[in-house]
Amino acid sequence: MKNFSAVILAAGPGTRMKSSLPKVMHSLSGKPLIKWVIDSVSALKPDNIILVLGHGAELVKKSLSESNIKIVYQTERLGSAHAAMQAEKVLKNYEGNILVISADVPLIKPSTLLSLINNNKKIGASITVLTAEVENPFGYGRIVKKGGILEKIVEEKDATPAEKHIKEINSGIYCFDKNLWTALSKVKPDNAKKEYYITDTVSILKGFGKKVSLIAVKDNYEVKGINNRAELSHAENILKDRKIKELLSDGVSIIDTNNVYISYDAKIGGDTVVYPGVFIDTGVSIGKSCIIKGTSYIINSKIGDASTISYSYIEGAVIGKNAKVGPFSHIRQGSVLKENVSIGNFSETKKAIIAKNSKANHLSYIGDARVGENVNIGAGTITCNYDGKKKHETIIGSGSFVGSNVNFIAPVKIGRSVLVAAGSTVTHNVPSGKLVIARAKQELKHRKIDE
Ligand code: UD1
Ligand code: CA
Repeated sequence: MKNFSAVILAAGPGTRMKSSLPKVMHSLSGKPLIKWVIDSVSALKPDNIILVLGHGAELVKKSLSESNIKIVYQTERLGSAHAAMQAEKVLKNYEGNILVISADVPLIKPSTLLSLINNNKKIGASITVLTAEVENPFGYGRIVKKGGILEKIVEEKDATPAEKHIKEINSGIYCFDKNLWTALSKVKPDNAKKEYYITDTVSILKGFGKKVSLIAVKDNYEVKGINNRAELSHAENILKDRKIKELLSDGVSIIDTNNVYISYDAKIGGDTVVYPGVFIDTGVSIGKSCIIKGTSYIINSKIGDASTISYSYIEGAVIGKNAKVGPFSHIRQGSVLKENVSIGNFSETKKAIIAKNSKANHLSYIGDARVGENVNIGAGTITCNYDGKKKHETIIGSGSFVGSNVNFIAPVKIGRSVLVAAGSTVTHNVPSGKLVIARAKQELKHRKIDE
């Protein structure tokens, strides 16, 4: 949808976070607050996105991957109206509508923003304010009406006792027409905080004889502003609860909904059972009929149908169908475990491609390796992949059997159907079909026992 541009206000220091990090860089479910707002706005494909930065600008700028965002700077923090004014130089001659949104309302949905813009266009208003009716309006700007019609917005610190009782609040999200710039130029800092408030544009535009309007959001959680750690944590819980409800209704079993963390973007198939103590972080997709037992942590990974994960840490891995991981395994970046693979007690894999039906069930480290099908890796086997400078690869052919406590000194290649004797330290390639024993022979010597 075109014919509107967006201005995102993100220059505030976020003092109430009590943090060295700019507020908008705080992470909500693995994604910085500002990115939530950028994603929602971008979904509507505006003509321009202008980001107003100030406090911690460099850090925020570095985190952005979008190339279509124009950045302007607010060098002094004089208030939300002053922040919005910084976008004028980019949009001065722009004829379309202008969505102004604070960067600290991460849960806002694109569809709500669209309704706001459409309302402003449809009725030809100079401003439409997105509002919400909340139980506890403390800290928000109140929507003051006269005869049922929007009169002004008054901030908590400036509100009269009667106004403080108003439960309809300003979300900090507005759609303006091109009169925005003239209205902003008229804002004065005559309020308790001596700041230039964007909220004053309501009465200013009214004074110009322009139409002012509001629409109320359907779900209040969408406009929750994040100003402190309690609100950030609350937003996490809102996202998590929404996700859990969605998964339960899609046929996923979650044994104790109070005792799991599941990221908003997780995909989990039906009949999968999630046990207490499981933490599913961002970028995870889990198939159907899996069992995920606590305490497991999974991030950026894909797990195939009917797999069982117990008490394990999985990051950046692709796991096939019917696989078994754990208890107590660490499946690291670049691990690819195919169908029926089993990685067990205290085994670790990294950048290891392990073909179907292979097992490393006890105390192993398999790193920078390619393991064929139907390979059994005995307890305590290690790929010695690092020579102090570089990483090297170990290749083990299909059908091989690796006895316990074997060291593979990489780079090394083991053929198919090789039997590696327990306790071997394998330093040279082994052709297919061989038995390799690479360990000191057992000797018996006389033992002299002192009296
Ligand atoms: C603001 C609204 C309030 C509304 C609430 C909703 C004003 C005056 N008040 O209050 O009516 O209920 O949001 O969440 O706008 N900013 C700058 N530069 C500044 C000051 C602020 O860029 O000099 C940015 C902040 O980074 C933030 C936004 O403007 O994204 C709003 O500022 P904030 O201090 O969070 O305002 P609230 O007190 O929450
Ligand atoms: Ca705020």
